[in-house]
Amino acid sequence: MEFNKLKTLWIFCLCLVGKSWTERSTSDNHIVENGVSDFCRIDEKLCNDQNEVLSYEAIRSIHKQMDDDANGNVDVSETDGFLREDLNYHDPKAKHNTFHGDDQFISVEDLWKAWKGSEVYNWTLDEVVEWLITYVELPQYVEAFRKMNFNGSVMPRLAVKNTSLTLSILKILDRSHVQKLQLKSLDTVLFGAPLSM
Ligand SMILES: *[C@@H]1O[C@H](CO)[C@@H](O)[C@H](O)[C@H]1NC(C)=O
Ligand SMILES: *[C@@H]1O[C@H](CO)[C@@H](O)[C@H](O)[C@H]1NC(C)=O
Ligand SMILES: *[C@@H]1O[C@H](CO)[C@@H](O)[C@H](O)[C@H]1NC(C)=O
Repeated sequence: MEFNKLKTLWIFCLCLVGKSWTERSTSDNHIVENGVSDFCRIDEKLCNDQNEVLSYEAIRSIHKQMDDDANGNVDVSETDGFLREDLNYHDPKAKHNTFHGDDQFISVEDLWKAWKGSEVYNWTLDEVVEWLITYVELPQYVEAFRKMNFNGSVMPRLAVKNTSLTLSILKILDRSHVQKLQLKSLDTVLFGAPLSM
């Protein structure tokens, strides 16, 4: 049962990578109407916090991509190889799986609750900076992260495509860096802190 859940997420992750490969210009406007009122139903305490609203929208966007790709044509063997190499998924079973709810279906609410239950959600700026240096291996953006005072709660926003965030705010000009940051953030949002940290 645990393994099935993990497998679902695993495939989900592969689909996301496949998507970013096949549709390099995915649009930035993932906001779906009623997002905020949905958020208030799920998490009344946080839905007035602008920072949390942005994170929730990012979680929704991740979920939406999963739905869209459920019947997409992703070359799994290719993306699998890429993930293993680039994200060090040598043993995916070793990753923690914190998702609850029905095995067949992960709702936005499930995803949000799992995210809030992650230790990463409570990371301080210093912990995020350490992650950026040792796991993402992009120390050149430490200053930008510090300037923005990015703590763990920002992670879902880094896991979705948002050019105004990566280019205008973080000043990341290299597209491969943008993609690396996005993939590793997605990995960290879905599977928790990297084992190496
Ligand atoms: C995060 O911090 C809050 C507030 O201190 C706490 O209630 C919550 O349990 C913490 N979450 C985790 C996963 O440690
Ligand atoms: C993280 O940053 C946000 C926005 O600056 C803040 O509201 C939140 O309390 C911070 N979380 C922690 C655990 O410090
Ligand atoms: C992209 O990031 C910026 C800055 O954090 C934010 O204001 C904007 O709402 C984000 N866009 C989307 C579509 O989430």
